[in-house]
Amino acid sequence: MHLPIRVTMLAASAALGLLATPARADDTPTVPEQIVNDMNKVWGSHPGIRANHAKGVVTEGTFTPSPTAKALSKANIFAGGAVPVTIRFSDATGVPTLPDGNAYANPHGMAIKFHLADGSDVDVVTNSLKLFPVATGEEFAALFEAIIASPPDAPHPNKLEQFVGSHPAVIAASKLDTPTSLAREIYNGVDAFIFVDAAGKRQAFRWKIIPAAGTEYLSADDAGKQAPDFLMQEMPARLAKAPVVFSLSAQLAEPGDQTIDPTKPWPAERKVVELGTITITKAAADSAAAEKPLLFLPTNVPDGIEPSDDPIIDTRTQAYAVSFGRRSQ
Ligand code: HEM
Repeated sequence: MHLPIRVTMLAASAALGLLATPARADDTPTVPEQIVNDMNKVWGSHPGIRANHAKGVVTEGTFTPSPTAKALSKANIFAGGAVPVTIRFSDATGVPTLPDGNAYANPHGMAIKFHLADGSDVDVVTNSLKLFPVATGEEFAALFEAIIASPPDAPHPNKLEQFVGSHPAVIAASKLDTPTSLAREIYNGVDAFIFVDAAGKRQAFRWKIIPAAGTEYLSADDAGKQAPDFLMQEMPARLAKAPVVFSLSAQLAEPGDQTIDPTKPWPAERKVVELGTITITKAAADSAAAEKPLLFLPTNVPDGIEPSDDPIIDTRTQAYAVSFGRRSQ
């Protein structure tokens, strides 16, 4: 999530000068527009920059599917051989100068665009959250509204504390550590999708992207001592020496598992299957230029992969389009 979910973030945001309470420009925004407006209020409005996951690094490589993937889904990305991919790793928040070791740079993002031979593309948009803090777009907007309505001098319990008190997933979702490298983090789809195979059989799943190098995290103290761009600089340096490899995997639901609520992960013992290997071979020559035209949409999935009934998926796609429209002007 890209959002400051710890109650203590309020103080941090105030210290960073991120909080402001200007009047709403538009009295009748849609929920996704309202969320982007609120992101701009909390994190500042930065022309040409994403409303969330503002800071990132673009890389390139290939995805090679496994036979397991082809059996689960008739999706084009699993049907043949290696598919070229463009991958943008990112820090959370809409603050493009946020130090990579700042606690609010978690969760880190990994957005993948698969480039099919027919000229179409497919997106998988993941981050290092294990669960989402809220279950709907309306609740996500309410969380931002609570942050905005809770300046440091607000009496306790302030609006954010009240919101957190009635939405326990906010705290559960916020328990994240800073990785030593963007290549040493697990990235999750959080929202459930549905595989459809060639015979029409449906299987609910959540994306899970597992680093071949294993996970490794810093203590909060050590994270705070890192250079401001240490993660963004380490990835190209690592790629200059060797490819970075991930397993694109899926956690499979069992009959009866709900798909509508991303605040509720499935039990850890649910089977995780490998869909294929992502091999990242190089950093984009000019990442700042490469990231501008890139738009990753959670609903940009092919025949054989469908969004579940989780309402956050559609809110996301609409919010990303709003942010893209604004940053492209
Ligand atoms: C209601 C829920 C959410 C909202 C409103 C939201 C909103 C946004 C917005 C406005 C952007 C900027 C898009 C752009 O300008 O291209 C963004 C980027 C991103 N979001 Fe979300 N998001 C939500 C949930 C999630 C979840 C659940 C995940 C991962 C599981 C996620 C992962 C990402 C990533 C990785 C990016 C950066 C994409 C890139 O590199 O271009 N978001 N989000």
